[in-house]
Amino acid sequence: MLKILNVVGARPNFMKIAPIVAEIARRPARLSQMLVHTGQHYDDAMSDSFFRDLSLPAPDLNLEVGSGTHAEQTARVMLAFEPVLLDVRPDWVVVVGDVNSTLACALVAAKLGCRVAHVEAGLRSFDWTMPEEINRILTDRISNLLLTPGAGADQNLKAEGIDPGRIVRVGNVMIDTLFGQLEQASPAMLDRLQLKPRTFAVATLHRPSNVDDAETLAGIMAALGVIAEQLPVIFPAHPRTLARLDQFRIDIPAGVEVIEPLGYCQFLGLWSQSRLVLTDSGGLQEETTALGIPCLTLRENTERPVTVTEGTNQLVGPDRNRIVAGAKIALQSEVKTGRIPELWDGRAAQRIVNALDEAAPNR
Ligand code: UD1
Repeated sequence: MLKILNVVGARPNFMKIAPIVAEIARRPARLSQMLVHTGQHYDDAMSDSFFRDLSLPAPDLNLEVGSGTHAEQTARVMLAFEPVLLDVRPDWVVVVGDVNSTLACALVAAKLGCRVAHVEAGLRSFDWTMPEEINRILTDRISNLLLTPGAGADQNLKAEGIDPGRIVRVGNVMIDTLFGQLEQASPAMLDRLQLKPRTFAVATLHRPSNVDDAETLAGIMAALGVIAEQLPVIFPAHPRTLARLDQFRIDIPAGVEVIEPLGYCQFLGLWSQSRLVLTDSGGLQEETTALGIPCLTLRENTERPVTVTEGTNQLVGPDRNRIVAGAKIALQSEVKTGRIPELWDGRAAQRIVNALDEAAPNR
């Protein structure tokens, strides 16, 4: 029996682990698993609601580390995770994505000689000012099995001198969840906000580089205000963003509706019906490409370039004028419909679990 310990910590992890947990559960004769939540995200809206929406079993263990500086958060996860690993001694520690919990748990496991598999390996923005870039590069360097979403990620890893024998291209597991949940997408938000499909835009914003600087955040909000003269902009705001809007006393422009962070199915029901998405999220760049919704990314770079080269994504950065110009083009002209990249087929979790099984120790 192969023992797999899955780790989650923050909101963007839950939709990546859910199909893996479900796939492992389909193979009870060969595989056993446990789920550890570090507690990096802890609010109902940021965590528990995702467990409900995605039918994730409650975590076997919650390390309850909570918020803090990067060093505090990373260190707290490491301190709490080490005794768990010493006790459980799994055959695999599976970490996903690029949040602080991902790196912290990978580091503890590597030091204890536990094998680590990194799901979503090989993404690179080449922007070292992004905390996630540091998390990605270090996690990949110490993982035994690098499960990549596409050819670009494989190339990035090989360019860093990583042994190709450690790389398995499995596709985009987040798209497994997206396709699996489409029918459950909730119309509740359209009803509540009295919106008709394709008549509104959706904005999300949470990167420190966009929201922690008053001038940058004010410029982005002003751009949303200009766009809102044309169509309403619904803005489910991350707790960090809400706090900054308040702290910097930035007025919410007319036509921009700031609402609470939404659960997976409510949010899917909203953005999948929108005319345009404006975001600095990584995942949403991919999800909009998968459903052919135009997306403006309020960043200068992306670790997911296939969404630009093949999908519906366009990088416009955080500059007010560029955001407005990008939106104008997206709303006026025929936008590129894009195409769905290779291996975004809803079956990545199967390939991931196959790879864990095949690359397991002593097999
Ligand atoms: C983290 C990830 C980021 C991911 C994002 C999704 C890192 C380095 N960053 O950023 O990659 O895109 O999650 O949200 O791991 N807070 C709450 N309730 C919660 C969680 C957070 O109110 O449940 C507030 C706290 O004030 C906290 C702040 O949000 O200080 C930021 O949370 P944190 O986990 O530090 O980072 P995120 O910005 O969410």
